[in-house]
Amino acid sequence: MLADGAQAAPHMKIDVQDLDVDFLGFSGHKMCGPTGIGVLYGKKEHLEKMEPIEFGGEMIDFVGLYDSTWKELPWKFEGGTPIIAGAIGLGAAIDFLTDIGLDNIAAHEHKLVGYAMDQLETIDGLKIFGPRDPMKRCGLVTFNLDDVHPHDVATVLDMNGVAVRAGHHCAQPLMKCLQQVATARASFYLYNTEEDIDRLVAGLRSAKEYFGDVF
Ligand SMILES: Cc1ncc(COP(=O)(O)O)c(C=O)c1O
Repeated sequence: MLADGAQAAPHMKIDVQDLDVDFLGFSGHKMCGPTGIGVLYGKKEHLEKMEPIEFGGEMIDFVGLYDSTWKELPWKFEGGTPIIAGAIGLGAAIDFLTDIGLDNIAAHEHKLVGYAMDQLETIDGLKIFGPRDPMKRCGLVTFNLDDVHPHDVATVLDMNGVAVRAGHHCAQPLMKCLQQVATARASFYLYNTEEDIDRLVAGLRSAKEYFGDVF
């Protein structure tokens, strides 16, 4: 069982032993770190049985003309010159988040998402997806505004200095289940404030006004 932790690792404490997951992966760039590097945790018993699929320096134990043997973990899977600067950057990002405290980050996000839900609910015609209880959410709100396509909503928000993501969010089966062609999504992290949410709400009100005239 492989868990994709790309959207969890920056926001909450993860205990791979408690989850008892075989593999868990996450990306550096979603947690204040550099792009092009991430982490793959795997249970030693599985990793020991697995063959490498990438080859290069530093991974070999013995090389013959027709066969080779591999070094022990983790070198077996780290063929070639590694992304050294990226690894140092990701280490610094993890230290940075650990110093702030993942529990503090989660609490900040829950507070912001609660505030956002309260404010967004005051906008007529705004449909919010997902549970009402902020404690059951990560720091994000997914929504659609009336019949306006979320790409148009995102463009108006962008003109107001608010960046949201619009589209199917790499989750087309979920869009189908929600019976939406696409949605807009505002996400919050440790650097966001209630003022940012006020700007989002003001931006949505101006989108509503603008498209209200069009439709
Ligand atoms: C849940 C999830 N998994 C994987 C990825 C892809 O990560 P990467 O760009 O590091 O391959 C993303 C990025 O959008 C994601 O949100």
